[in-house]
Amino acid sequence: MKLILIGFGVVGQGFAEILRDRGSELRRKHNFAAQIIGVVTASKGSLYQSSGLDPASLLQAAESGSFDNYPTQPGLRRGLTASDMIEAREADALVEASPSNLETAQPALEYCHLALDAGMHLTLANKGPVALDYANLQAKAREKGLQLRYEATVMAGTPTMHLAEAALAGCEIHSARGILNGTTNYILSQMETGKSYDEALAQAQELGYAETDPTGDVEGWDAAGKLLILGNALFASGHAMADLDVSGITAISAADIADAKAAGQRYKLIASATPAGGSVKATRLPLDDPLANVGGSTNAITLETDLMGHITLIGAGAGKLETGYAILSDLLAIKRATGLA
Ligand code: HSE
Repeated sequence: MKLILIGFGVVGQGFAEILRDRGSELRRKHNFAAQIIGVVTASKGSLYQSSGLDPASLLQAAESGSFDNYPTQPGLRRGLTASDMIEAREADALVEASPSNLETAQPALEYCHLALDAGMHLTLANKGPVALDYANLQAKAREKGLQLRYEATVMAGTPTMHLAEAALAGCEIHSARGILNGTTNYILSQMETGKSYDEALAQAQELGYAETDPTGDVEGWDAAGKLLILGNALFASGHAMADLDVSGITAISAADIADAKAAGQRYKLIASATPAGGSVKATRLPLDDPLANVGGSTNAITLETDLMGHITLIGAGAGKLETGYAILSDLLAIKRATGLA
């Protein structure tokens, strides 16, 4: 399976590390031999090689700050744009892992449409296109018999989408409620131990949890984007950001946290969705609420179903390998659906 990667930040590097470290195991166990043939970034340059780029060398070059330091080899092309790479029509799938833009979804959205037009399957870690243009992307993918996958967009590689789509396929899902942002959950947990908001945010950035611009995390927009994606995936709800009631954690002070603690409660940024709408809101939970005990960057979601009652999934919501793994799990799903190896 030949891949073009847009973006080589936390997610792209996590995925490349998995290919570097598990490549032979994936071939042996799953007959899966993914090759990254193109990588485009905003800050490190771009590389394209039809016969496949070496994940270890990509990671080394990224660490040095520029793909200029990727070893020159016969057939290697530097400086191609994402459109050039898609138009070359050599890749089987596009991996969109550039920073999320929840206002316009661009430039990623354009590349997603170009890739589908060129017959490529699509997997996204970038939330913008699936939060804002899901219906069009899905219609185009269906019409062309292509896979549109986006496990990484909600709860990193914790299999939320796979759970809903495959394991719960025979159930009606009535609602979803959970903790969908790792950065804010980490900050709230750290503040409870006495760290300042700024210190905790800086740590969340260092650990790779926060978005490139963390405003969206702390103001609730990242969780809201995930709610839109879940709404589309679970209920085909087609809501827009303006339909959701969104606030974040910026108004929560150390005193509020101490106050909640004294009352046997804990603040969590709770995201909830039903087919009718959704909200993201910092909420004081009693300690016996299962969501109150989900700490650090861990995320959780409870799906309310007709046949199975409540099902709760708890797992990583952010992180390098954890989100890189989501890309791998989508590509393995594409392999199962298409036979591409
Ligand atoms: N910034 C996101 C979070 C990353 O903190 O949850 C994973 O989507």
